[in-house]
Amino acid sequence: MRRLRRRAAASAPASPLTPETATAELRITGLSHRWANGQTILDDCNLVIPKPGLWMLVGCNGSGKSTLFRLIAGLIEPQSGSISTDHQSALVFQNPDHQLLLPSCSSDLLLGMDQGLGNSERRERVRLRLEELGLAGLERRPIHALSGGQKQRLAIAGALASEASLLLLDEPTALLDPDSQSSVLAAVQELCRRPEAPLTALWITHRLEELTCADGAAEMSAGRIGPWMSGTELQRRLQHGSSDR
Ligand SMILES: Nc1ncnc2c1ncn2[C@@H]1O[C@H](COP(=O)(O)OP(=O)(O)O)[C@@H](O)[C@H]1O
Ligand SMILES: [Mg+2]
Repeated sequence: MRRLRRRAAASAPASPLTPETATAELRITGLSHRWANGQTILDDCNLVIPKPGLWMLVGCNGSGKSTLFRLIAGLIEPQSGSISTDHQSALVFQNPDHQLLLPSCSSDLLLGMDQGLGNSERRERVRLRLEELGLAGLERRPIHALSGGQKQRLAIAGALASEASLLLLDEPTALLDPDSQSSVLAAVQELCRRPEAPLTALWITHRLEELTCADGAAEMSAGRIGPWMSGTELQRRLQHGSSDR
């Protein structure tokens, strides 16, 4: 059974559970965050992910994208506003070397898995997670022998092995060569579009060409999150500069 997680600032009234709230994959309402030095990094942000899919965010350095992810993942508590989702989330960062801890693909995946599962169930889940990310048969492959793209896909497999169904990908292709970049993007896109149990992924990118693969894209700027639009439309607007926005 999926759990409803709702986090809200202590002083904020709980938002009512409307039919829309109940079905959204993620709902962020009136979220603000100010650092101890007084810098307001998020200012009354609202965001609804209406259905599973690949949703992308773009924004300048320092526009609060990673802070937003840390709030969604529960690493920081909201100061005001609320975040609700019935998914378990997992973060995937730019550099997979910061996420992969054990020497082989299977040992790394086993680390994040429910330790209460039996051995054969755990092995089967490792096999499935590797297969889903285009890494079939690499159980015993040492991590140092993987390409950058394979490592990033293994980091994503690790997130899924921990039963996460909301992936928060913070510039996951920033350090990858073009082939590896495409392999990671295609793998996540496929997981988000599979007919059975499609994933919900929120993907931060600086690479505007990736926007064409999004089911919806939004821009973060001046502490706010803009409306969803098609990835192609946001790409067009960004390429034409702020005068067109
Ligand atoms: N723990 C922190 N304490 C104070 N300021 C922080 C902290 N973490 C990040 N910041 C500030 O927040 C801003 C960047 O936020 P971030 O969410 O990383 O932006 P982005 O991911 O869009 O580049 C920067 O100005 C940074 O200095
Ligand atoms: Mg960042």
